[in-house]
Amino acid sequence: MAEPILEVQSLCTHLPTKRGLVRAVDGVSFSVRPGEIVGVVGESGCGKSTLCFSLVRLLPDTAQHSGRILFRGEDLLAKSREEMRAIRGKDITMVLQNPMTALDPVYTVGNQLREILRFNADMTPGERTRRAIEMLRQVHIPSPEERLENYPHQMSGGMKQRVLTAMATGLKPGLLLADEPTTALDVTIQEQILGLFAEIRDRLGTAIILVTHDLGVVRRLCDRVLIMYAGRIIETGETEAIFQEPQHPYTRALLASIPKMGEERTRLQAIAGQIPDLTGLPPGCSFEPRCPRAMEICRTTYPPAFARGPGREARCWLHEEAGAT
Ligand SMILES: Nc1ncnc2c1ncn2[C@@H]1O[C@H](COP(=O)(O)OP(=O)(O)OP(=O)(O)O)[C@@H](O)[C@H]1O
Ligand code: SF4
Ligand SMILES: [Mg+2]
Repeated sequence: MAEPILEVQSLCTHLPTKRGLVRAVDGVSFSVRPGEIVGVVGESGCGKSTLCFSLVRLLPDTAQHSGRILFRGEDLLAKSREEMRAIRGKDITMVLQNPMTALDPVYTVGNQLREILRFNADMTPGERTRRAIEMLRQVHIPSPEERLENYPHQMSGGMKQRVLTAMATGLKPGLLLADEPTTALDVTIQEQILGLFAEIRDRLGTAIILVTHDLGVVRRLCDRVLIMYAGRIIETGETEAIFQEPQHPYTRALLASIPKMGEERTRLQAIAGQIPDLTGLPPGCSFEPRCPRAMEICRTTYPPAFARGPGREARCWLHEEAGAT
């Protein structure tokens, strides 16, 4: 099996606020191999975006990080601002939720594509234009020569997300972070963009971390899944294993919240209760106040990760007899 391209070890990202220290990412470990699509799932506010922004160090300077983020074997937490900027422009890229605001309204799409190339590759202006056209063609934008002259407002939301995907993948990154890339788009366009991601993975071998509320998308597209709750990964495993035999009561609750056939696709439906305040997590299992199977030990002691089969772990005391990893 290929070596991981990304290995995150005990990553914490704590954010000072007026209310106190928000433990948005709190001891997260996982790895991603080249060409793998890893889904990140969990309710709103559980730290998914903070995890992505931590990986590329795009949080305010006040953010406190600890742990290691090994990308191609090098710790990103030890990199300078300049080094991170270079990595972000080329080797680890992002596609975010809102294509409406992610493009600069005052420059044409062509200028924005050429700008990326200017920073990252040694090319003549003519070469940059040819390459920009090629980048648009790769994401199936019709008449790319004409589209280069468009301003963002002349494009639909789906078209803009294609342009952003072209920008994020045109330099063949090793890792693409996609944080709810299709939430703002209608269903048909969503499908096209997600199809594009799968194609990019197949063609370029790019690893993708895909944050999404849509468990149907996870099941179709992701090789593995990280289930996040209150800043921590509480279950991981291969996608089918997670869907067929969820091991953590929170994962079960999430899967039970999937809208049934015929119901309108929505964000995750509410699970009774709320996620805990990340400025003051209880000492025990953070899901305990909502968990139908909570026991005495759950109130006092945070569960370690218990092995639940090859590549599978769950942080839940129900699996204590199996032994911690
Ligand atoms: N810059 C920041 N400063 C302080 N707190 C922050 C900051 N960014 C995020 N948070 C807090 O960190 C926690 C995790 O937020 P995050 O945006 O990572 O969640 P999320 O899982 O991406 O949620 P959603 O599904 O709504 O996008 C929340 O409590 C949020 O209020
Ligand atoms: S550790 Fe206890 S409270 Fe937490 S999910 Fe498992 S059974 Fe529920
Ligand atoms: Mg988010």
